[in-house]
Amino acid sequence: MGSTSRAAAFAAAVLQAGLSGALAREAAPADREVAGKVDALLARMSLEEKIGQLTQIAGGAFPPGNKPEEALRRGGAGSVLWLNDTRRFNELQRVAVEESRLRIPVLFALDVIHGYRTIFPVPLGMAASWDPEVEEKAQEIAAREARAAGIHWTFAPMVDIARDARWGRIVEGAGEDPYLGAAMAAAQVRGFQGPTLGAPDRLVACAKHFAAYGAAEGGRDYDSVYVPEGLLRNVYLPPFRAAVEAGAGTVMSAYMDLNDVPATANRFLLRDVLRGEWGFQGFVVSDAFGVGNLVAQGFARDRRDAARRALAAGLDMEMASGAYPEHLAALVRDGAVTMAQVDAAVRPILAVKMRLGLFNRPYVDESRVAQVLATPGHREYARVAAQRSMVLLRNEGAILPLRRSLSRVAVVGPLADSRADTEGSWMVFGHVPAAVTVLEGIRNKLGPAARVDHAPGPDIRRDVPSFFDQFLPGRRKPAQTPAEADAAFAQAVETARGAELVVMVLGELANMSGEAASRASLDLPGRQQELLEAVVRTGKPVVLVLVNGRPLSINWAAEHVGAILEAWHPGTEGGNAVADVLFGDVNPGGKLPVTFPRSVGHAPLYYARNLTHQPEGSPMYQSRYWDGPTTPLYPFGYGLSYTTFTFSGLRLERPEVRVGETVGVSVDLENAGRVAGDAVAQLYVHQRSGSDSRPMRELKGFRRATLRPGEKGTVRFSLGPAELGYWSTRHGKWVQEPAAFDVWAGGDSTAALHAELTVTP
Ligand code: NOJ
Repeated sequence: MGSTSRAAAFAAAVLQAGLSGALAREAAPADREVAGKVDALLARMSLEEKIGQLTQIAGGAFPPGNKPEEALRRGGAGSVLWLNDTRRFNELQRVAVEESRLRIPVLFALDVIHGYRTIFPVPLGMAASWDPEVEEKAQEIAAREARAAGIHWTFAPMVDIARDARWGRIVEGAGEDPYLGAAMAAAQVRGFQGPTLGAPDRLVACAKHFAAYGAAEGGRDYDSVYVPEGLLRNVYLPPFRAAVEAGAGTVMSAYMDLNDVPATANRFLLRDVLRGEWGFQGFVVSDAFGVGNLVAQGFARDRRDAARRALAAGLDMEMASGAYPEHLAALVRDGAVTMAQVDAAVRPILAVKMRLGLFNRPYVDESRVAQVLATPGHREYARVAAQRSMVLLRNEGAILPLRRSLSRVAVVGPLADSRADTEGSWMVFGHVPAAVTVLEGIRNKLGPAARVDHAPGPDIRRDVPSFFDQFLPGRRKPAQTPAEADAAFAQAVETARGAELVVMVLGELANMSGEAASRASLDLPGRQQELLEAVVRTGKPVVLVLVNGRPLSINWAAEHVGAILEAWHPGTEGGNAVADVLFGDVNPGGKLPVTFPRSVGHAPLYYARNLTHQPEGSPMYQSRYWDGPTTPLYPFGYGLSYTTFTFSGLRLERPEVRVGETVGVSVDLENAGRVAGDAVAQLYVHQRSGSDSRPMRELKGFRRATLRPGEKGTVRFSLGPAELGYWSTRHGKWVQEPAAFDVWAGGDSTAALHAELTVTP
């Protein structure tokens, strides 16, 4: 074979393995040993005990009257969720291991999303770091803490691509882009699980919600999703695939209908793609009550039908709805479900328990918990993660960084001093917020010599209460009367008036994003906009710190407020990290992982759209709306710094490559300012013609780099079949095609530095 045809054959193999084929994995000796033990155990299990392993039950006080011991004693539950109590873990484990017939240990699961005791920025904020290493390390710490407390399995990472800012759960993922999303998904799996499933002090990860939950129509949580296969494969699935390739032990199915087939019983997703194409070896758990829900979805006739169809589709473990224990045994006896189907679902669950070592070490060491949770390095790292997640959106007249010599600062707004809202969503399992708020961070930074006044202004609250607030007793204050709100408003303006400079901390409460927390508006909720305008009218310099879980259309602020720092819900050390950035101890280097629309009417808005009809910018299409620009308020990948970076010299190793070959791409960057800082070099491509139309830009590489003042560097990327191929609707498979490509590199998705690449047959 000549070298070119060898290269082509290799490329074809890469394409096959990397883009379309099943991941052929040889069973390692350890795998074979586990498989042997699993089969031996399976042979001793009754049908009821097998179904028990497929059943996940609640372990806490919800639902009311819950008695997990009964199920565990008869081998009726394989996993327990919604419990966060180390002593109880051991109590329940003792029932499973000492009182049940086969002594199979129970797997304790909890949503450890962005930290356990030490809380990191919400996942959207972590993605804004564009730093998978930080994400990995953060989840490693989360795993260490949660595992020390007795948890084995986390329902994370959430890897749903979200392009509609109304959707509340946009906060739980890495934003709008499959390439960034895949990098963050893999990093989180590595962080949670370590090098192998069962590594000490780690958790089992769960990539959720499979799949395309983020495309809920209208951004309404749980609503149906209609996504054509091309979009599904090119955009929504890559982060799941990355999580599976990184070794994720489990996958959670989504709630909603995907193209009219509920994800809970979606054979195409769970069997054809996940196992058939990707070679997934772990197990699939439903989302909570998902199997029972198949009836409400108008899919299953009744709960028996739901259990049969979910299992047949490849749903192994049922979360909390109880349809499996109610009906599976009868279904097997009636011949509607085979024992082989049941065994196939039980096997990977037992295998996970064995790999974790639970059969040998079922209990958690209660004496270690406090010490692990108090590890000082954990909080320090939460501060680093928060620093890296912050995005500087505006800095007119270099108002930031602030002088330390400020003697009187007002910190104003309902989010300035709220620990719970500094930490963000998912803190519902008895977590006591321990965050440093922005107010405290600024006070810590300025010390006793400066006067730092605080006024919260009027409260903000959800018009429709959150279901999850019932699990946060005492955290939500009673509603203010209109007179109290007016007084708070006046006091906030007065406080601002007395200061040299005002830091306004505005945005959203933790319960305004997350599950069942979608919004029909992207404006600042409550009277925050009015308060912001009133404070700006005082003539004092104003810095706006945003604490929020989704893009907000802050158009007025983007024109009238000197500086805007997007802090997300920054976690335990959030306030200190904000102060580090405001006072210039840290130069912000985060970039937006989501487009900021100008109006809710823009949603869904994302950068990787197709070019349709007329290029944007042509005279006929100044905007696709006549009542305002189509352009985003802030584009994907955007973020400022206290220094300036210049990108230059974008070059390809060679201008032409064949299908299947890989080409190196380099771009030079220079810190042209006077302070050290971080740039994120971003590489985008566009295929100009092909079997399908392709998005006008797609991210295909990124690197966050720190440069000293005046320092120059070169970032190298490569473009090969994985970056240049796509799933073609025309062909119904992965392809890489000969075509001309535009290549751009720079600091955000509007990067202008351009080169051309030709891919030949
Ligand atoms: C429902 C949510 O959709 C899911 O993300 C979560 O992991 C489960 N409940 C368990 O709490």
